[in-house]
Order: sequence, then structure tokens, then C-alpha cells
Amino acid sequence: MGWGDLVGVSVLGKTGRSIVKADINEVLSDLLKAYADEWLAHYQYWVAAQWIRGIDADTLRPILLKQSEDELKHAEKLAQRIIQLGGEPVLDFAKLLATSGCGYIPPPKDPTNIKQLVEDVLKSEACAIKFYNEMVRKYRDTDYVTHELFEELLEDEVEDEEEWDKIYSKL
Ligand SMILES: [Fe+2]
Ligand SMILES: [Fe+2]
Repeated sequence: MGWGDLVGVSVLGKTGRSIVKADINEVLSDLLKAYADEWLAHYQYWVAAQWIRGIDADTLRPILLKQSEDELKHAEKLAQRIIQLGGEPVLDFAKLLATSGCGYIPPPKDPTNIKQLVEDVLKSEACAIKFYNEMVRKYRDTDYVTHELFEELLEDEVEDEEEWDKIYSKL
């Protein structure tokens, strides 16, 4: 690939950014917040899957691992959009928590306290739903690609909440 091709690539990137009518820095800051939230949810569910014990643990473990994987996929999509807009995902791991909006809830000290664990998962999902709902509304007319991404994430988190609601009612 010669320099001409590289220039071509950068011109294409500029068109993608030029159609964004929202303030790019604000879009990037919202995307980064979501990116950090997803990464922390990914870790929260994964470490909970390792930690839990008791009669419901074997049933819950694969569900936590699957959702953990889904949250990481969300983080991947957000990272790609951040890069597309000329930003950087959180490169310094120590900054993840400060960047996030929903934060991180560690699993309960008692590994058999599944009820507490599921309540905390529901809290995290509810926070994500509220934030994505706000984002879908915010970028409806100003950034179609980001809007569509937030809409997709919102749909997924609503499904997650429904699943955890069902689990909670059976505990
Ligand atoms: Fe997610
Ligand atoms: Fe989720």
C-alpha cells in the first residue's frame, strides 16, 4: 500500500466523522463511559462466576459467564466506534473505574449469597438501561451510527434484565 492509499483511507475517515452533527468530544466521552461500564460489567460477572458457591451456583455460573462474554462484545463494539471517531479506548487500565458511569459492584463477601449477587447484577443492568436510553434519545438526529449502536446495546441490556428478573423470582 502506497501513501496515496493511506491518504484515501484518511479522507474516508473524515467523511464518516463529518456526518456527525453532534460535538465529537461529547460523543467520545459518552462512548468511553459506556466502554468502561461494559468492561467493568464483563469483569463483575466473570469474577462472580468464579466466586459463587452453594446450590444455585452451578445453574448460575454458565449464565454469568455467557453474559460476561456479551458485555465484552459490547465493549468491543464501543471501542471500534471510539477509534472510528478518532478517539482512544481507555488505554490505561487504572482509569477504567473513573471513566465509568455505573461503576463496579464486587460480588458479596459470602459466596453463597446468590440473592445479593443477583440484586447487584440487576442494579448494574438497570443503570446501563437508563444510560443507553438517554443516549439513544440524545443522538437520534445527530449521529446515526452511534445512535444505532446505543440502540442495539439498549435492546441487549433490556433482555439481560428480563433474564435476571426471572432468575431472581425463582431464588
Ligand atoms: Fe452490556
Ligand atoms: Fe448486560
